[in-house]
Amino acid sequence: MQLVTAGLLALVLLGATIAHLVKLFRKINGPDKPPGPTQLPYLGRIHDLPIEYMWLKFKEWADLYGGNGFYRTQMLGAEFLIVTDEKVAEDLLVKRAKHNSDRPNIQSLFDSKSSNGSMEYLPLMGRNQYWARQRKLTHSYITEATNRRYNGVMYHEAKRWMARLIENPDDFQFSLEDMASKVMCQLTWDDSTLSEYCTKSAWGLLTQMSPAGPITNVLTPLWHLPLFMNPWKKAEHKRHDEQQEWWMARFLETRSKMANGEMRTCWTKQYIEKTALKTSISGDAEASCLLGMLALVGIFTVAGPLSYWLVTMVHHPDWQAAVQREIDEQCGGQPPTLEDAPKLPILRACIKETMRWKPNVPTGVAHETEVDDVYAGYFIPKGTRILPLDWAFLRNPVKYPDPETFRPERWLEPGWPTFQAPLTQFPTLKGMTSFGWGQRQCLGMSLTQDELIVACGSLAWCFNLKPKRDPTTGMELPVPLDKSNSLLIIKPDPFQMAFEPRSEERKLEALRLWKESDAKDRSDRAEFLQTAAAKRGEKAPAVAPIGNLPLGMPVISPNAVVSTTLACSFILLGNAITQSFMGVPALLVDFPHPSTPQHALAARHLGRQWPVFWQVGNVFFRPISTLGIFGYAYASYAAYKKAHSSSDWKFLAVSAVCHLITVIHSAVNMQPLNAKIDALSRDGVGKMGIKVDVSLAEHYARRWIKLNLVRVVMPAVAGSIALSQTVKGRLN
Ligand code: HEM
Repeated sequence: MQLVTAGLLALVLLGATIAHLVKLFRKINGPDKPPGPTQLPYLGRIHDLPIEYMWLKFKEWADLYGGNGFYRTQMLGAEFLIVTDEKVAEDLLVKRAKHNSDRPNIQSLFDSKSSNGSMEYLPLMGRNQYWARQRKLTHSYITEATNRRYNGVMYHEAKRWMARLIENPDDFQFSLEDMASKVMCQLTWDDSTLSEYCTKSAWGLLTQMSPAGPITNVLTPLWHLPLFMNPWKKAEHKRHDEQQEWWMARFLETRSKMANGEMRTCWTKQYIEKTALKTSISGDAEASCLLGMLALVGIFTVAGPLSYWLVTMVHHPDWQAAVQREIDEQCGGQPPTLEDAPKLPILRACIKETMRWKPNVPTGVAHETEVDDVYAGYFIPKGTRILPLDWAFLRNPVKYPDPETFRPERWLEPGWPTFQAPLTQFPTLKGMTSFGWGQRQCLGMSLTQDELIVACGSLAWCFNLKPKRDPTTGMELPVPLDKSNSLLIIKPDPFQMAFEPRSEERKLEALRLWKESDAKDRSDRAEFLQTAAAKRGEKAPAVAPIGNLPLGMPVISPNAVVSTTLACSFILLGNAITQSFMGVPALLVDFPHPSTPQHALAARHLGRQWPVFWQVGNVFFRPISTLGIFGYAYASYAAYKKAHSSSDWKFLAVSAVCHLITVIHSAVNMQPLNAKIDALSRDGVGKMGIKVDVSLAEHYARRWIKLNLVRVVMPAVAGSIALSQTVKGRLN
């Protein structure tokens, strides 16, 4: 009896469950709902939405259901509206930005939206007060840096990258990300040595926030397991705390360096010095996160298109050659600068087409609706996640005919729907759908564009990007076009390729450019520290070693050269004074008149003494004088090359000329006189049969004293000038 009751109860329960599921199924798939794949109660389409290459499945559904420019789907109860047409994105995310600019919660991050005041990750925050003030500040910092041309940081790092690629091409995936990271660390904390850790930290956050990251981002209930049996939460605690600590350490370090006057321009200094007093940012904790996040957000975002640039160029040698031609013609044999950008439409077109063809945030970033709404007759409930599917926008065949093919000409030739004139301004990356929409649109568009122009342009200037050959078979190793990770910001899977310098001269020039840039950077830093120490009334710290570059390239310090050379000038001066005013006059004391019998002996003695002067002047001091010519010429060149040197290259050139005059004068005027006096030792018959008048012995010696005055005056002038220039300013 009891068994029958239990059976009946089970049947009723089963029936009720089925009835409930059927009802729910009908409700969630009702005709009032926007079109989309059929949804299963509670699950939505979690069962057939792959985590890998999710955007491809979204696009597949877009082709089936996205006729209106959007479709809906669900995942474990979360409602999604996938937008596949730019016009719909404009309607929902720009025109209705006021209530469609929130962000969805990311389960595997603590308080990702900052609803509870954590204030940590600007791009992930809900549309709240923290987001508003951090966005405003971030925008103003980036804009200011853009206007300052990033203090030359991008050029410096691009040069370092070229040199690294020459020295260690196989490490290109690391050095590429490291370059992007160094730019951001330099801008944020004026310290490029932080790049490696910063990249790791950025990777940790990117993985944690992506659907393809921890399983708790998809199977969200797992996140709520108690801590002792929850490895995901434990790992996130560790990651989060370390990152926060590191950001705070950077902030405090900057502040303490500032107290000693040892911090150069950077965003953190700008904040502490200027912004902190007049901002609504709540204090150090929030500021350190704002700045730390700013450094992080510019790493993989920029590294992505840069990696795809390599892939694209390897597959399109014809376009690579066109970019190289353009740069060679327009940039005077040097890598492109931002001033050259208007003259480089082909480079810009290839960069933009790379980003269209291989977008690095292919799903787009979701917004969340804050109110119930109706769009195109369909009800959109509050809390819906609107996903602007960039992969679909960029493969729209009407806007981009032949969308699967890399065709930069679509930006360059009239007749293509995307062509825009003038070519000095277009194509530009700014406003691309890849940077998102409305109030949440990306703040790094200019920075991205500028960094890609500098980095991709430098690559094209320096290298032929080619497939690598297998050393044993000689076959080309494949560079896959469609293999990547599936994080929110994607990058190609590891691959191999070759970086072939375009010529030996280019290679040497690239190495020279880096050497020069590195030396200047070190000297600027040392000079800054010395000034800071002087202001504090302390002894100046030792100048950073110049000869020890990270790439193992020695460099000769112009400062060291000029100091050594001016020491030589004064040694020469001392010697010439001794000769003219002591040595030779001593030989002539009471010199007998030519009419006296003692004269012949005295003249012979004079001649025999003479080799000492000859040896000292010719063998020892003339080479030193010659070295002076080269030393001052090098210093003069260094001052000429150093844009803001306080040493004047023209004065140093005068010093070099003084030494030149001394050497020529010694050879042309003094040497014949030496030979004549030397001949006195053999009664007037010198080497190679030269005959001299012995009665003129004293006359020759006194003339020698007079001529030797040039060797007094010239080194004195050269040394004094060089000394004044060295005291005035550093050359390195
Ligand atoms: C190719 C490079 C980049 C791409 C494709 C990209 C893409 C995006 C996207 C899709 C969003 C979200 C937009 C939305 O919600 O509608 C975003 C937001 C953001 N991006 Fe970028 N980004 C790039 C580079 C950068 C760089 C270099 C920086 C900074 C240096 C940056 C800073 C930001 C910030 C701060 C936000 C958050 C804006 C907010 O939530 O209000 N991005 N980016």
